[in-house]
Amino acid sequence: MRIDIATLFPDMCRSFLSESVIGRAIKGGHIDIRCHNIRDYAGNKHNRVDDKPYGGGTGMLMQAQPIYDCITAIREDTAPDRRVIYMSPQGRPLSQQTVKELADSDGFIILCGHYEGVDCRVLEELKAEEISVGDFVVTGGELPALMLADAAARLIPGVLPNDEAYEQDSHFDRLLEYPQYSRPEVWRGRAVPQVLLSGDHKLVKQWQDEMKLAVTLAKRPDLLVDRRNNGKPLSKYVRFAVRDEGLPEDIFAALTMLSKNKALNSKEKKVFVKIDKYFNEFLPFPKEISGEKLFTYYKTENRDIVDMCLSLCDIFTAHEIKIDIIYSEIVGKIVREDGYRAFCKE
Ligand SMILES: C[S@@+](CC[C@H](N)C(=O)[O-])C[C@H]1O[C@@H](n2cnc3c(N)ncnc32)[C@H](O)[C@@H]1O
Repeated sequence: MRIDIATLFPDMCRSFLSESVIGRAIKGGHIDIRCHNIRDYAGNKHNRVDDKPYGGGTGMLMQAQPIYDCITAIREDTAPDRRVIYMSPQGRPLSQQTVKELADSDGFIILCGHYEGVDCRVLEELKAEEISVGDFVVTGGELPALMLADAAARLIPGVLPNDEAYEQDSHFDRLLEYPQYSRPEVWRGRAVPQVLLSGDHKLVKQWQDEMKLAVTLAKRPDLLVDRRNNGKPLSKYVRFAVRDEGLPEDIFAALTMLSKNKALNSKEKKVFVKIDKYFNEFLPFPKEISGEKLFTYYKTENRDIVDMCLSLCDIFTAHEIKIDIIYSEIVGKIVREDGYRAFCKE
């Protein structure tokens, strides 16, 4: 596995890569990470690699040719179609799934921008993918590149003590990790959960699995239905409910109420009409069945419906109505929920 980093500041990267877990992994030969100075490909006596952007604007732009020559040299040394990843605030967000996919390959090239970024033509020419480390901007691609290289390197066999070390971590299976405790058993009046002291591995594992779901639901419910990831959502079924006072209602009842109260603005009305038609056509509305409310669960694999419900959530949020997203793995079974009965449809 070889990672090549193309940058104007190779020493910045080398300094990080020489320390700690990754430093030891490189020294131990588990992974090969090389840093290349784009300036070595400047091709002029002043070693200039940047210029003013056409059309004006502050700052300098990294020029296409030195980047192209640097990446071409790396491709000649590795593979002509070596994957190039440009770290960019405009890229798709970096996820553990992408990291795993890259770690399973035999290597890739990371391009770091600096100043105002790079001449966009070189990205097209190199067929570079753009990956972002978050919706914010840092001064250069070096820190993002090191984050990607570090995240990929720790998945390479031999870098961590064993596979379990990262398989238990947050995001490996799209869930967050369970809470962890160390000595002492009681700290400032807070005790370690009894099950962790039981020595019963089966029980501990069961507790950890349950806590992973609970923690994810509490801290990052968006991970359970993640529309950014193109991945399969975790839960098989999902129900969107609004909670006014007391028991949760399916969102359609609340939407009808908002509509009847003429609380929707014209843009929201359009969404309502579109969604109303769709749901009438394809899905049953929650019905009263022998005096008990029947909630409708939607299959989370049906991205269209889940996405529509999420856009309804935006409307409710705008009207300051609280939304609950309720997940279920139970198929075709009636489950009791807050005294109501809910039914998961196949
Ligand atoms: C100051 S930024 C340039 C931002 C660019 N002008 C824009 O608005 O899209 C300089 C470099 O930092 C890197 N960078 C900045 N923010 C990043 C982010 N969130 N993720 C990945 N790379 C980032 C990119 O390589 C970028 O070329």
